[in-house]
Amino acid sequence: SATPAVLPSLLLCDFGDLKGEVARLADAGTKVLHLDVMDGHFVPNMTYAMPIVEGLRRHTDMPLDVHLMISDPLAYAKAMVDAGADMLTFHVEAVKDAAAVAQEISDLGVNVGIALNPETPLALLRESLPHVDMVLVMSVEAGFGGQKFNPVALEKLQVLRKEFPDLLLQIDGGIDTSTIGPAREAGCDLFVVGSAIFKKDDYKAAIAELDDAIAK
Ligand code: DX5
Ligand code: ZN
Repeated sequence: SATPAVLPSLLLCDFGDLKGEVARLADAGTKVLHLDVMDGHFVPNMTYAMPIVEGLRRHTDMPLDVHLMISDPLAYAKAMVDAGADMLTFHVEAVKDAAAVAQEISDLGVNVGIALNPETPLALLRESLPHVDMVLVMSVEAGFGGQKFNPVALEKLQVLRKEFPDLLLQIDGGIDTSTIGPAREAGCDLFVVGSAIFKKDDYKAAIAELDDAIAK
């Protein structure tokens, strides 16, 4: 599988100093930014959308991995791509025909990911897998940072990795120095991290500790 990477999640960051946050993350070795978009409908929380993606796009060359926690991903996919998103991940629970949604996003010329919450069975993904570049296995219920890691994600990662050796796998929720190793062992490539970076003063040290824990 791919080279593992830690993706900071812009959810618990300082939105009053977004430029500074991005600079600190870049300095800490970040290669990809994970952007958490919530609509107050698919999840009970709201965050931000295209203007922030567009603003970030003007300040960094890092790929922008946009996690759409919204009810109607296709209604905003084109606008997100125009704003500068490089990868759009939508939730299988949000749509009727996930394979068709994946294909439509892919046709916009970006990478496409499909996400599933801890309660959602893997079987729901089957038909979409030929149309996606990545699966995002949620290890918390989408909606809030700072929740407790649900190990059901590890089982899903193992099953997916065994069946699809080349599929890009991402995990999101409750990832810290104690959960990142088991997630890597289960076959995960990309590790989204909120609290375990942003609740620390020194992002560089926090990311270095996470990188160490992946390697162990
Ligand atoms: C949850 C978001 C995550 C979250 C991760 O809905 O998708 O990206 O910010 O935060 P932590 O690492 O605190 O669980
Ligand atoms: Zn996320």
